[in-house]
Amino acid sequence: MRDGISVRAGRYAVIKRVHTRAFSNIALIKYWGKVPGGDNIPATPSISIALRELSTETEVERFDVGEDRVFINGVKATDKDTERITSYLDMWRELELIEGNYSISSRANFPIAAGLASSASGFAALAKALAEFSRIKLGKRKLSQLARRGSGSAARSVTGGLSAFPVGKDPAARLLIDARRLSYGMVAITVDSARKKISSREGMEHTRQTSPFYNKWIKLGAQDYKEMLRAINLRNLTRIGELMESNTLAMHSCIMSARPPIVYWSPATIYIIQKVRSWRDEGLDVYFTIDAGANVFVLCMKDDMDLVASKAEKLQGVVKVIKSEPGGGAEVISRQ
Ligand code: PMV
Repeated sequence: MRDGISVRAGRYAVIKRVHTRAFSNIALIKYWGKVPGGDNIPATPSISIALRELSTETEVERFDVGEDRVFINGVKATDKDTERITSYLDMWRELELIEGNYSISSRANFPIAAGLASSASGFAALAKALAEFSRIKLGKRKLSQLARRGSGSAARSVTGGLSAFPVGKDPAARLLIDARRLSYGMVAITVDSARKKISSREGMEHTRQTSPFYNKWIKLGAQDYKEMLRAINLRNLTRIGELMESNTLAMHSCIMSARPPIVYWSPATIYIIQKVRSWRDEGLDVYFTIDAGANVFVLCMKDDMDLVASKAEKLQGVVKVIKSEPGGGAEVISRQ
């Protein structure tokens, strides 16, 4: 065994079809910005919670002849998505981890590309499946590194629970607290958003190139990460929540300061931020965070999720409310 890798004898040619699942995750401390020229290496460290109710299931079948085929939610993927996934498979082939061609069928139980972290669960489930076909056995660290090459946040869906994802040369996420030991949950409040989404990949690059506050954001992200690790150690929800809100607002401020600016929010986003603050003033321990989209995620104690969800459902502009307990790491459902 070296660097989490050991040679797997015999299995290579045997596995034909694998079915996996991974949970989406929402960052408490955000990853925004990549190291230029790297292999999808984040410029900021991040911390996240995986969400059990938002998952992607992926079935991967191996062919010895033919071309890769990609299906998303039961239909043939667009050229753009097919290209992204086949070049991801090419990377595994170039690393000589897998050979042959594959049929990939991926199904998310939540809207794809709506700021609900679909690439995180999607690439984590895919990496987990490909690992079953790998010539060598891949440890969790290696798998998280490989998932990161598909989508940065996918590194954290490999480990699940409450995970930390430091920066470095070839970074991987690590599990800080197992999902079953967490007393927090999240309520996803999805809203109507007319704005066409700019992918996080494009948004990050544009922010890096044009925001006058980008360097400041990178420094701040590193500080917030350390602070958050301390707050988590103390299981101090108030401190965790305050830091999470400050970090998400700093990220969005940096994004909005890009030229031309990117604004992922809709009017309902700001309305919900204000509501969450007013619920807190009334004594409820609730805190918000927002990814590269208009939807708002509320962190609270598991016991408060029902109350938060019932309040959220009554708000104008809210499309759907999803309560979620923390989820585990990427897993194999079946193999043949
Ligand atoms: O790895 P991506 O492309 O899903 O980018 C993640 C960006 C954010 O969701 C905004 C932040 C994060 O750390 O998940």
